[in-house]
Amino acid sequence: MQKIVVLSGAGISAESGLSTFRGAGGLWEGHRVQDVASLEAFFHNPDMVLNFYNARRSALAEVKPNKAHIILADLEREYDVRVITQNVDDLHERGGSSKVLHLHGELTKAKCSVCSYKKTIAYKHLEVGTLCPNGHQLRPDIVWFGEAVPAIEEAIELVLQADIFLVVGTSLEVYPAAGLVHYVRCRPIYIVDPAEPGSGYLSSKEVIRFRMNAAEGLEKWKNEIKKSPALGGTFT
Ligand code: OAD
Repeated sequence: MQKIVVLSGAGISAESGLSTFRGAGGLWEGHRVQDVASLEAFFHNPDMVLNFYNARRSALAEVKPNKAHIILADLEREYDVRVITQNVDDLHERGGSSKVLHLHGELTKAKCSVCSYKKTIAYKHLEVGTLCPNGHQLRPDIVWFGEAVPAIEEAIELVLQADIFLVVGTSLEVYPAAGLVHYVRCRPIYIVDPAEPGSGYLSSKEVIRFRMNAAEGLEKWKNEIKKSPALGGTFT
């Protein structure tokens, strides 16, 4: 089976009703990123940080996967589809994708701020005083700014193996995730996004852009990949 590797970002969940991070209406408006998404912030103001993620979790419980998530899931019938997502939501999984690697953690999980304890919390709130069995404070299982991205090596391996590589709904501004495009060996790189992410540093790569929202763009992309050289097709 041909391997499709997808790098997704907040834009794929926009049509489900979750805000993206950058640009108008971005999630961080009114919150400086460092105020909510760093270990320092958590130590200085744990209530604020936990409440911020509690609100994100509550919002997630109210939304559904959209057509873009479902298109990727349905492609598993024909391809080995691997999703590498920067998103901390669970909409790829709820849309039916079975192989999803979360680079930046997951809202539905908590981990201990001291030991290695991890736990699925679904859409429940974490409070100051929600402790692990060893008595330490739990925190969201999110990769915060300044922290290592443990899944990046696995992601690089996947990207190297891709027969088809798709980027959808990410500004390609946050590293190391954005750097994954440099490991792509297959061609072209498909990008579905109403904006033009990576336009500078991808100029030496063969890129086919679908400048549209994820659901519409993935529908078009799905037909286009049949022509991909990796699948024995040719571009005209
Ligand atoms: P951004 O908010 O930086 O970028 C969202 C991208 O989605 C932009 O390129 C938009 O043009 C595009 N977009 C907007 N609406 C869309 C739609 N309906 N369909 C398709 N694309 C659309 O989000 P990310 O690139 O995911 O990290 O941000 C990367 C990381 O920055 C996040 O994972 C988060 C944040 O800091 C952590 O939380 C660690």
